[in-house]
Amino acid sequence: MSPAEIRPLAAGDLTACGELLAQRHRRHRTAQPLLSARFETPEAAVAEVRAAFETPEASGAVAIRAGVPVGFVLGAPKTSPLWGPNIWVEAAGQATVDPEVMRDLYAAAATRWVDEGRTAHYVVVPAHDEDLVRAWFRLGFGQQHAHAVRPATRPAAAPRPEGLSVRRATPADIPDLARLDLELPVHQGLSPTFSAGRVGTVEEGLEDWAEEIDDPEYVTFVAVRDGKVVGSAIGCALERSSAHLGPARPDNAGFLGFAAVFPAARGAGAGRALGTAVLDWAVDSGFDCVVTDWRVTNLLSSRTWPRLGFTETFLRLHRTIGY
Ligand SMILES: CC(C)(COP(=O)(O)OP(=O)(O)OC[C@H]1O[C@@H](n2cnc3c(N)ncnc32)[C@H](O)[C@@H]1OP(=O)(O)O)[C@@H](O)C(=O)NCCC(=O)NCCS
Repeated sequence: MSPAEIRPLAAGDLTACGELLAQRHRRHRTAQPLLSARFETPEAAVAEVRAAFETPEASGAVAIRAGVPVGFVLGAPKTSPLWGPNIWVEAAGQATVDPEVMRDLYAAAATRWVDEGRTAHYVVVPAHDEDLVRAWFRLGFGQQHAHAVRPATRPAAAPRPEGLSVRRATPADIPDLARLDLELPVHQGLSPTFSAGRVGTVEEGLEDWAEEIDDPEYVTFVAVRDGKVVGSAIGCALERSSAHLGPARPDNAGFLGFAAVFPAARGAGAGRALGTAVLDWAVDSGFDCVVTDWRVTNLLSSRTWPRLGFTETFLRLHRTIGY
């Protein structure tokens, strides 16, 4: 195939890039029909690419072959220090008819990103597209995170371990909820995740929960074993989440936003029971599907959520330049 001409992505490219994104999304939905049909239409896809282009300090590249755009990549930095000196290619930030071209696109776009001092690169890639994922792997990227979805259906009934029950949280549970909030960042700070996420304090958790326990937008469950709270999980509408944007946001979706079990109680069914409670709540609330996500290096969550029927929609890949 003839080499593509690669040049910086400009405002005049947005319509063609949106069409490429709509095509990508149509292919994606044949593998993952729970994704929103909305982004199959060029209008919605163009709006997503335009929003990505208008994000402060966005830049990218477009590939042209025989006068026709055949691919693009578009990234912008996030302000949180959590991600380092970063650039993010979000779910609407890339599409190509030829995965090999993505390597040329990245080469061009990353020249500018690294010149700007942005050496921590994150890209959100459709999980079903093995050739595209492999193209990114051959650019030095590895998988950091998974976005996933499942239908809002009740999971097959599993025998509830003896002595374990799940119920809605009450204000009396706040001290346990505040301690459980720390378990996720503590666990993910350890090997092999080594996340830089901040571990808060129990005092902060107590204050937050005093304000939030009655928030009708969220539902909190606790798992109780032998009279003691051993875990918690939170459900909400996906719109409450700041992640899962654009093509990565299925319609009418519930969100399994948080779960944690105290270390001594893990591996004995509490996580499954909590996840099941959120799924049952999503069914009762009329959602069509439920979304969650996990660090793929978190050995616990990355094994628990697929067991509950979640399948990957997008992979977040990561590369750090300079070592
Ligand atoms: C993730 C977490 C909530 C799961 O809770 P848990 O009580 O440990 O989970 P369970 O005992 O119910 O096990 C969940 C599933 O994972 C499976 N699993 C556990 N270890 C496994 C392993 N090594 N290999 C394969 N599957 C495994 C279990 O078999 C079970 O599936 P099943 O019910 O179909 O048999 C808990 O481990 C935790 O708090 N981890 C730290 C914080 C965290 O990661 N939270 C999630 C944020 S996304």
